[in-house]
Amino acid sequence: MTDIHDNPLDDPNADPFQVAALAAADIARLSGVEKHDIALTLGSGWGKAADLLGETVATIPATEATGFSKPALEGHVGTLRSILTPTGTRVLVIGARTHYYEGHGVRRVVHSVRTAAATGARIMVLTNGAGGIRETWKPGQPVLISDHVNLTADSPLEGANFVDLTDLYSARLRDIARNVDPSLDEGVYTQFRGPHYETPAEVQMAKAIGGHIVGMSTALEAIAAREAGMEILGFSLITNLAAGIQKTPLSHAEVIEAGREAEPVISALLARVVEAL
Ligand code: HPA
Repeated sequence: MTDIHDNPLDDPNADPFQVAALAAADIARLSGVEKHDIALTLGSGWGKAADLLGETVATIPATEATGFSKPALEGHVGTLRSILTPTGTRVLVIGARTHYYEGHGVRRVVHSVRTAAATGARIMVLTNGAGGIRETWKPGQPVLISDHVNLTADSPLEGANFVDLTDLYSARLRDIARNVDPSLDEGVYTQFRGPHYETPAEVQMAKAIGGHIVGMSTALEAIAAREAGMEILGFSLITNLAAGIQKTPLSHAEVIEAGREAEPVISALLARVVEAL
């Protein structure tokens, strides 16, 4: 058991992939499931998808797996669930995200992704709640992530590790998602550090450099997933229009409420997409 004050990832001499392998072994031991096929990180608003995917074989408090941090945010359930779908796919549902803005370092941010890869998962589905820059989008609308701009000025890669990020958010998987719901729009996700929301000027900057979505997660996780050789599918729930696009101030309560309202619809969509992967 690890907590915020006692985490092997904080030892600079630790190998983060070895810590992930230990976490995957913990998951195998506690769930009785040796190998998973797909991993799914559930962000704000996406939490109910797990219930719709199939039979929950095991629910593990994330802190029982080596290297996982206590969740910083209410609304981010700190569990790992092993699910067996009706077609026999093993899905690892990660309800415990460590955000970059928590300030515990990027190793902790991407530990769940590296652990998912170590459990055998070949597909990483990343979901989040985020702000929308496109004025035609409405709060409560899910959109696919087509690419990202990483504005954290950080990377989960260590050393001279030159990983290609072309087609990072797999066109193949986006096509599968659009087959399930042809109305799905897509956009470029810009990751800011947070935890403050962007200023209207920053949102205009994000727009000018090709962004359509603003958020505080996912890009760093996607890079780690690519490094681990996984295929990536990304979804944002537009919880609000970004600062200055919507004329009213942003609030965390509004974001959570939009997630709660959209949850049944987008969770059902996500479960159908995962079943089609
Ligand atoms: N900006 C950044 N992160 C967010 C937002 C936003 O507008 N909404 C939800 N998460």
